[in-house]
Amino acid sequence: MKFLRAQFGFVVSLFLAAPLFAREPAAPAKDFTHETPRQIEARLKWWSDARFGMFIHWGLYSQAAGYWDGKPTSGAGEWIMNDMKIPDSQYAKLVPQFNPVQFNARQWVRIAKAAGMKYIVITSKHHDGFGMFRSDMTDWCIKSTPFQRDPLKELSQACQAEGVKLCFYHSIMDWHHPDYLPRKPWNDLASPNPNFDNYVAYMKGELKELLTRYGPLGILWFDGEWEDTWTPERGEDLYNYVRGLQPDIIVNNRVGKARAGMNGMNKNGDRVGDYGTPEQQIPATGFGPGVYWESCMTMNDTWGYKKNDNDWKSAETLVRNLIDCASKGGNYLLNVGPTGEGLIPEPSVERLQQVGAWMKINHDAIYGTSASPFSKLVWGRCTSRTTSTGTTLYLHVFDWPTNGQLIIPGLKSPVTKAYLLKSNSLGWHKRLKTIPAADSLTISVPAAAPDQFSSTIVLKLTGTPKAE
Ligand code: GLC
Repeated sequence: MKFLRAQFGFVVSLFLAAPLFAREPAAPAKDFTHETPRQIEARLKWWSDARFGMFIHWGLYSQAAGYWDGKPTSGAGEWIMNDMKIPDSQYAKLVPQFNPVQFNARQWVRIAKAAGMKYIVITSKHHDGFGMFRSDMTDWCIKSTPFQRDPLKELSQACQAEGVKLCFYHSIMDWHHPDYLPRKPWNDLASPNPNFDNYVAYMKGELKELLTRYGPLGILWFDGEWEDTWTPERGEDLYNYVRGLQPDIIVNNRVGKARAGMNGMNKNGDRVGDYGTPEQQIPATGFGPGVYWESCMTMNDTWGYKKNDNDWKSAETLVRNLIDCASKGGNYLLNVGPTGEGLIPEPSVERLQQVGAWMKINHDAIYGTSASPFSKLVWGRCTSRTTSTGTTLYLHVFDWPTNGQLIIPGLKSPVTKAYLLKSNSLGWHKRLKTIPAADSLTISVPAAAPDQFSSTIVLKLTGTPKAE
């Protein structure tokens, strides 16, 4: 009895003490925004070396497939709720329909990996606010669908098994949450007294789930930061919050307010977020060392699946876009929009296989490379790799010369070796003759291009390249 009383007293005093603990000021959040350039470089290294990733837009909108009440939407598939002014209560009809039984995480990851992609960025939540994971914060997520499974858990397991980095796209803008502001006029579920701070606390709760339950993540890819309610201070706070939960994670610049529209780069000195996000475009030139960026692009004209969008880019364009980004020191994030059944559309799979076949031969000319030392090359692009023993230039020839002579204007460094990256059936690389002149180099090349998309010539130089 005495013992029990003692216990009781202990519990009571704990209970009484609890409010005191609660009043204790919270430990100041660590500030991750003042790293040195070398610290940033080290944290971003796996990602800059990777150069190529897969974007996946997948959500309730995939089930709508670009149609509402039999009418096609004119914009992107994932914007259908906004563009067709669908009230939340109506949009919610997609929930019982969403049952992507054909989804196979291992297959998706293998499709990405076989294409040469080293990371996957998938929508954990898009602007419609619907969570593609089993959240304890809300019912507006996958657990309310007949599917019941957690696709992000399955992807995290598949990515770990295949050695691909898993990353999440998470929208700051939320068309569903009752406290989100500015309130959308068609949000018939919005609270009469919305409180944006409540929304931010909710979003952080979701992010905590994502950052603590799905293993180490590569990137948090924010979006929808452009509305007035989102401020630079909130951006900085969110950046620190995310890094506090996974210190090595990379965060894109859409966490803050500095992005200059679709060109994606920061318009002023604010440097919240680790890298720029050009959208549907590749910058005309790179930005030099220490400025990181990744162009995200669609394969047809939509991010989220639309069954009537057949405007597919060719595999040649996709390969050349990847080379173009790498030659300017950037990454290429190429999108697929799986269907409501859980399948990556066949035209996307076919193209990714073709890109993969090119990467199988040419990956050395992409992974871990740096930008071109040339300001312009009329026949194609160049990537480079400098080590303590010298520099390798990879010449990506889009327009193969018809006269057997490839001219590299402005190259003033002595060349020790030149050869085709693609080997013959015996595994030999064809050596190429080089003829130096005062301000250019001529390479004698075979009559026919070795590769229909882009052929790679390897040039070995001593020292760092002197080029114009
Ligand atoms: C945009 C769109 C969005 C898409 C994204 C990809 O900001 O709002 O639908 O997810 O860009 O970069």
